[in-house]
Amino acid sequence: MKPSFYAPILLGLLILIAVGSCKHIIPFPVNTGISGGVGSTSDPCDSTKIYFQQQVLPLLVSNCAQSGCHDNGSHKEGIILVSYNSVIQTGGVRAGNAAGSKLYKVIKDGSMPPQGYSNLTDQQKNLIYQWIQQGAQDLVCANMCDSSVFTYSGAIQPLITNKCQGCHSATNSMGGVDLSSYNALKTQVDNGKFQGSVNWDAGLAPMPQNGSKLSDCELSQINKWIAAGSLNN
Ligand code: HEC
Repeated sequence: MKPSFYAPILLGLLILIAVGSCKHIIPFPVNTGISGGVGSTSDPCDSTKIYFQQQVLPLLVSNCAQSGCHDNGSHKEGIILVSYNSVIQTGGVRAGNAAGSKLYKVIKDGSMPPQGYSNLTDQQKNLIYQWIQQGAQDLVCANMCDSSVFTYSGAIQPLITNKCQGCHSATNSMGGVDLSSYNALKTQVDNGKFQGSVNWDAGLAPMPQNGSKLSDCELSQINKWIAAGSLNN
């Protein structure tokens, strides 16, 4: 087929992408090679797949989308990392090519998060690598959280590492809140702020900031763990 056959189609696509993306932040549409979101909350989780909504986005939100960095309001360098669309449109992701993706490169070499913030762990870096290699899709699945598991080590600590710690570590304790160890967390449990902020109780800042509310299953894990005495178990 002649190239001229494709030209109008391509042009149309580019215009569509340009209209869909944020006017003043993205100067031109970028072809990321990504075909769009797939998967739904009713799909059972497959342990060989990376689920963007549950595994990757929370990491980006808590490590990169802090105020002054890559949230909607600050959008440093035009990069916003608060949703699938913003990550794909501004994050420099090339589906299937992690090594060629800016998002992965800066996380891998440790230049992001910048000095003063903790780097991602090797496991977290690997998750982002795998997600890009698998096509950088917008997957979500049904049963990643098991509400019958509610120990500190089995449920609470992994949740905090994934969704909170970028903003609440010993070195970066936003709002004066450190959640990076059991003892530090326990202080916030005992003063009621941990449970109240994730349940979005009135009078407290709703957490995770810039992220969506924790799932019913995650809230159930937290509430059960606290009801059972918030042990270091
Ligand atoms: C993107 C950064 C960010 C993420 C992610 C985040 N927080 Fe926060 N958190 C903040 C900031 C900033 C404050 C101070 C907000 C304020 O005082 O308005 C805060 C305050 C809090 C407070 C004190 C609330 C109050 O009203 O005094 C608690 C407790 C808390 N966070 C828990 C969490 C938990 C638990 C998570 C994960 C589920 C989480 N945060 C994720 C940034 C974040």
